[in-house]
Amino acid sequence: MTERKIPTIVTGVQPTGPSHLGHYAGIYRNMVALQEREARRFYFIADYHSLSEDYDPSEKSRQIMDLAAELLAIGVDPKKTTLFVQSHVPEHTELCWILNTVTPISFLERMTQYKDKASRQKQNINVGLFAYPVLQAADILIYRADQVPVGRDQLQHLELTRDIAGFFNNRFGRYFTEPKPLLTETPKIRGLNDPLKKMSKSLGGKSYVALRDDPDTICAKLKSAVTETTGILKYSEEELERRLGGPNPALTDGEGTDLCGQAGAYNLLTLLKLAGGEREARLIMAGQPIRYGELKRLVAERLSDHFADFRQKYEKFREDEDHLKEILKKGAETAGKTAGETLKEVRKLVGVR
Ligand code: TRP
Repeated sequence: MTERKIPTIVTGVQPTGPSHLGHYAGIYRNMVALQEREARRFYFIADYHSLSEDYDPSEKSRQIMDLAAELLAIGVDPKKTTLFVQSHVPEHTELCWILNTVTPISFLERMTQYKDKASRQKQNINVGLFAYPVLQAADILIYRADQVPVGRDQLQHLELTRDIAGFFNNRFGRYFTEPKPLLTETPKIRGLNDPLKKMSKSLGGKSYVALRDDPDTICAKLKSAVTETTGILKYSEEELERRLGGPNPALTDGEGTDLCGQAGAYNLLTLLKLAGGEREARLIMAGQPIRYGELKRLVAERLSDHFADFRQKYEKFREDEDHLKEILKKGAETAGKTAGETLKEVRKLVGVR
């Protein structure tokens, strides 16, 4: 009888500033839940990726440590998961170079995230931004991952990773397995100040609730959240999604304001559910008209409570930077062993040394 192979799960998060509810709902919750599975897990902070976007070098190392503390505080457990910083395991970038040589430029030119980012930073369309998905493929393939938990926006990169694995295998012999994305149904979290877009730092401080925000800040941000004014949810959530259409629905002004307000109202209910208030959300839906002032206070309170434990743990981890560094160092050592083995075999396959 052959031994059942334990799957390998790999995922990365970029250090770009305080994590918010979108990160939590989209990926962090999933990362924590996946720790209950029998698997080898590698979670890392994708610091090299984050250099491809405009950033301030004096802030980067703090952002890396902040993210490490956030991931630990939310429940990533170093006993169950190898947690490390991407740049501490140089095999990622070495494999990336080799993968560059089997990746057609035309495949990278199709990446929607590249096109989006390039249009946002026209003065800084650098090769790193373009090759970003190749480094991501290396992150995944260096551990010969089977499963990659990601948000929907990363599906195209995952598909490219499988293509790259295939190109490599065709040229050098079957070596890499093709990793699959692990998607769980995650609610879409919308910007508080612009519910037609997803919650994002780039929409400004009033768009998002950071996981580290204190209760007063959470309350203030929710107070200024955009909603409609009638208290009545005109459409079902599915119907609303349909009317909003693709990423850029062509709407008349009036229609746009209306749908925006409706989306904002649903967003508040989504946040309430996210903080464990499913029952309350159902009651509010059933008891329309909705009084938004009250709802906003309730959501703020539930969110504050839901992340109280996180805030405390975050502060604790953040206070002891030596401890944090020790965890990351151990993580890099463990990851480096597997990564080193892969790279050694790959180097042989491609004919160097
Ligand atoms: N591109 C991912 C994001 O922005 C981050 C990332 C980098 C990643 N390397 C990865 C995710 C490898 C999964 C696997 O969310």
